[in-house]
Amino acid sequence: MRIRLLKKNEIKEVAKLLIAAYETETKDRRWNEKYAEKYVWLLYKMCNKLCFVAVEGGKIVGVTLNVIMPEFNKEIIESRVLVVHPEYRRKKIGTKLITRVCTKALNDYGVEEMESSIYTLTNFPITWYECLGFRTKKYYETTRANIANILDKV
Ligand SMILES: CC(C)(COP(=O)(O)OP(=O)(O)OC[C@H]1O[C@@H](n2cnc3c(N)ncnc32)[C@H](O)[C@@H]1OP(=O)(O)O)[C@@H](O)C(=O)NCCC(=O)NCCS
Repeated sequence: MRIRLLKKNEIKEVAKLLIAAYETETKDRRWNEKYAEKYVWLLYKMCNKLCFVAVEGGKIVGVTLNVIMPEFNKEIIESRVLVVHPEYRRKKIGTKLITRVCTKALNDYGVEEMESSIYTLTNFPITWYECLGFRTKKYYETTRANIANILDKV
């Protein structure tokens, strides 16, 4: 298994991996082809130097897409995608992908913090992140609203 930068012509393949990776998860986390491809393309455009794939036997079996974001007086790295194909899990591919990104962020960009939004209704993968030292931010929650409802209320 080899980890290397994502290439532009692999965006469709990575979008398919994103779909496959969440197929077995809960209903609300399933991607469709159109938006998976848009999402991968957008992240690639934002920061292709921090988009890595894991390749085994010529096939992309894992991917991580990250962006560097200014925050107050520094920059942090936002991990937007980290997925391993269901058939290739528990072979340390996820660990190797995050290791590669963290090493690059620290050594090449001097970025010292990573942030990731994690699905918490199941015990895993929050436990996986906690083992790596990730902790929930105390005074922040991600909030979401239906736009028609907002417009009704203003
Ligand atoms: C999270 C994810 C990327 C981990 O990738 P992976 O390559 O399977 O993980 P690793 O092999 O590096 O895991 C290392 C350790 O994590 C733990 N772990 C991995 N999968 C686990 C599971 N399903 N349940 C409990 N612990 C698990 C184990 O301790 C494992 O070590 P072990 O196999 O020696 O016991 C992968 O499960 C995935 O793609 N999940 C769906 C997408 C997702 O939730 N991504 C996270 C962002 S929200």
